Amino acid sequence: MLPVAVGAAEVAQAADLITHADTASPGTEPAAVPPASPAADTPLITSAPMLQNYAATSIGIAFAVSDMANGFVDIGLREDLSDARRVKCGGYRMTDIDDHVIQVRITDLEPATTYYYRIGADRIAYKGGYNMNIVGTETDQHIHHFTTAGKDARAHFCVINDTHVRWVPFGRAIDKIAELSPSCVIWNGDASNVEETIEAQQRIFLKPEIERRDYASQIPYLLCPGNHDSRGMANRHLERVWMYRQPEERLSRYWDLGRNFAVRMGDIALIGLDTAEDKLDTNPKFAGLFNSAAYREAQTAWLRDALQQKEIAHAPYLVALCHIPLFDANPKHNPGDVAPNDSDPRYSTDFAMWQRTCANLWGPLLEKAHCQLVITAHQHRYRYDAPTEQRHWAQIVGGGPEMGESDGKKNKKLFPTVIEGEVRDNQLVITIHNLVTGKVQEKLTFDKRKEKKRRNDKGKENKRRNEGKG
Ligand SMILES: [Fe+2]
Repeated sequence: MLPVAVGAAEVAQAADLITHADTASPGTEPAAVPPASPAADTPLITSAPMLQNYAATSIGIAFAVSDMANGFVDIGLREDLSDARRVKCGGYRMTDIDDHVIQVRITDLEPATTYYYRIGADRIAYKGGYNMNIVGTETDQHIHHFTTAGKDARAHFCVINDTHVRWVPFGRAIDKIAELSPSCVIWNGDASNVEETIEAQQRIFLKPEIERRDYASQIPYLLCPGNHDSRGMANRHLERVWMYRQPEERLSRYWDLGRNFAVRMGDIALIGLDTAEDKLDTNPKFAGLFNSAAYREAQTAWLRDALQQKEIAHAPYLVALCHIPLFDANPKHNPGDVAPNDSDPRYSTDFAMWQRTCANLWGPLLEKAHCQLVITAHQHRYRYDAPTEQRHWAQIVGGGPEMGESDGKKNKKLFPTVIEGEVRDNQLVITIHNLVTGKVQEKLTFDKRKEKKRRNDKGKENKRRNEGKG
């Protein structure tokens, strides 16, 4: 398959390819049928679909709309959709009418399987109570496809981070990803700056101002939120644009951990963690309105369980991702645990440059699981931290959005990255692409996890399976 996104010109043509089928709902009183609103002349579907939350048996599909709408996805195994089923937005009981973003969750998929789909939406005229009608339906004639995760999926991922709504570096990252054609992309935080409106969030994820506006229509994305992704009133409900992961992926006691993921893709297990804010909950700037400490603790219990899930425990390669680094050798870098207000003259910033609390909580579990690599972000400067005697996992810090200069001064150390991971010749090969030079910055290889340990884990896992779900 060739999941290369089409360009802006082709997306613009989508308006011509969308069918406008005016339909009257049967069985309605004539008086209840409102005239089509003037807005009906404008396209209802205003973005390409975005594949969210890459998984083995489910996928989220989101797209933007311009008016009150009820969206749907036709999905099947055949390229012409002759076997397609229609899945509507929302859950049980009623559909999820929305005038900004349609979110359709597809479940009951087969692992490592290619599906074809197209999106559509009904325009809704709602006047109150039962006075509501469908006054038109648009169906996007583009048929896209994607492949689910799983043990037999192609082990090939890309990571982007700290895109911060800067279109030039983001566009370059998306072009590089189209060229590399991975199975999935992890957006490792700070997609946002401070977002106060859903329109601003739509612009970031669904209507980016880049050439390949359908960048996520065929390559599924995963999200590890960064500290900026919780800033601004709109970002307090990021799930209105990027839905939480499918609840059945986790035990009910982790019901609120909708951003964490443990996904098997070929020989790689991907673990997604959320380091949360870069300031303490006690910092007066936060006015008591953040709760990162409890969130990190809860993720520790989730991580312990996730690492023992069969497909994760047996994956030859274990890669964890989180936004804020879990290690930093620079003594001037604030470790994020300076109570109460993150300020200390020893450190160069009054916010966390790395996350010692998360390292203490999660580090031992990752060590025990023989995790080979933690991919992080946040510092806007690419760095590789090789494993040591005390810390057996390596760490990569992805670059930021600065294109070779800062405050008008040239600086070759400032470049955005696409971090590519692929299993080749019995090794995990990590390639760091420099988006300023267009060249490979560094190439790293990792051997398989220790077999002995994984065999030991098998016994515990069997015990666990007897006790219930992982
Ligand atoms: Fe950050």
